[in-house]
Amino acid sequence: MTLGAGTAWAQAPAPPPWAYTVNPPPTPGAKPTPPDPAPQQVPGSAASLTVAQTRDAFNPPDWHPSAHPLMPEPVARGRRPEMRACGFCHLVNGQGRPENASLAGLPAAYIVQQMADFKSGDRKSAEPRMGPPNAMIQDAVAATGDEVRVAAAYFASFPFTKWVRVVEATDVPKTRIAGWMHTPTGEGHEPLGQRIVEMPEDLRRTELRDASSGFVAYVPAGSIARGESLVKTGGAGKTVACGTYHGPDLKGLGPVPPLAGRSPSYTVRQLFDLQQGVRKGPWSALMKTAVEKLTVDDMIAIAAYTASREP
Ligand code: HEC
Repeated sequence: MTLGAGTAWAQAPAPPPWAYTVNPPPTPGAKPTPPDPAPQQVPGSAASLTVAQTRDAFNPPDWHPSAHPLMPEPVARGRRPEMRACGFCHLVNGQGRPENASLAGLPAAYIVQQMADFKSGDRKSAEPRMGPPNAMIQDAVAATGDEVRVAAAYFASFPFTKWVRVVEATDVPKTRIAGWMHTPTGEGHEPLGQRIVEMPEDLRRTELRDASSGFVAYVPAGSIARGESLVKTGGAGKTVACGTYHGPDLKGLGPVPPLAGRSPSYTVRQLFDLQQGVRKGPWSALMKTAVEKLTVDDMIAIAAYTASREP
C-alpha cells in the first residue's frame, strides 16, 4: 500500500531554522565569559550601566526615559519571582526584537486576547526548542488580569516607529545564532538563498538593550515585489488580500493588528504557526484561508513586503 501526500502519515514541515532562531548547545567544558564590569554608555543617553545591569529581567535598562511615556509596573519591573518585566524582552518602548514581537501601537484588545491565548495554550511556537516563546508563555501564565490591562494600555498608547531596514540581497554577512538572534560573525559573506536574515544594525547597542538601535533584514532579491502582489491581490486564490482585515496600508483595522514595518522574521513565524495550527486562538480562524495554501517562499515574500512598508 502506498500513502499519498496529505494522508495522516505526512509529516508536518520543519519550522525554517533561519526564522525560528535556536541557540546552539553550549560547547562542553567552555566557561561562559563573565560580563565586562565597566560602566557602558550608548549614544544620546546620559545613563551609565554595567552589562550585568542591562541583563536584569526585573529592571530592564531605560537608556532614553524621555522617549516614551511613563511605564507602568508590569512593563518596567514585572513581579518577582515569576513575571519578568515586559520591557525586558519587548524593550521599554515596545519596539521589540526579532526573536519576540513589537508591541508598540498594537490595539489594546488584541494584546489582551494574545495574552489569554498564550495562557490557555492556544498560542505556542512550532519550534518547541525556541526559548523566548516558551518564556512568553510562562509570563502570560503568571500575569494577572490587571497587569495585562495596564501593560496593554501602555503599549497601545503610542505608535510603532520605523525599526527594520529591509534590504534585498543575494549575499549577506555571515551570522551565527547567539542570544536567540542572528549575529554577524565578522567573517565575510555567504549566499542568502531563500531565507530572511535579520540582525542588529549595531550589535553592541542591541546587546545593551538600547531601545533606539534597530535592525536590518536581508530578504531575497525580487521578494518585495512578489510579496506586494500576494498581499494586494491574494495571488489568484492562493491567499486573501491582507488589506481587507489589516487595513489598506497594513496599519491595522479595529482590533486587527498592524503589519507595516514590523519584523519579517516574526511575521514568517506567525504565518507558519497559524498554518500548523499551533497558534489557534479564537481570532485565528480569520487567518485560516489566508495561510493554508502558502509555501514558506510565499511567506518570505509576504513578510518582506509587509516589513518594507512605512509603519
Ligand atoms: C522573556 C521574554 C518576554 C517577556 C518578559 C514578555 N514577552 Fe511578550 N513575547 C515574547 C516572545 C518571544 C513573543 C513572540 C511569541 C511568538 O512567537 O508567538 C512575545 C509575544 C507577545 C505578544 C504577541 C504580539 C503579537 O503581535 O501578536 C504580546 C501581546 C506580548 N508578547 C505581550 C507581553 C506582555 C504584556 C508582557 C509583560 C507582561 C510580555 N509580553 C513579556 C517574549 C516576552
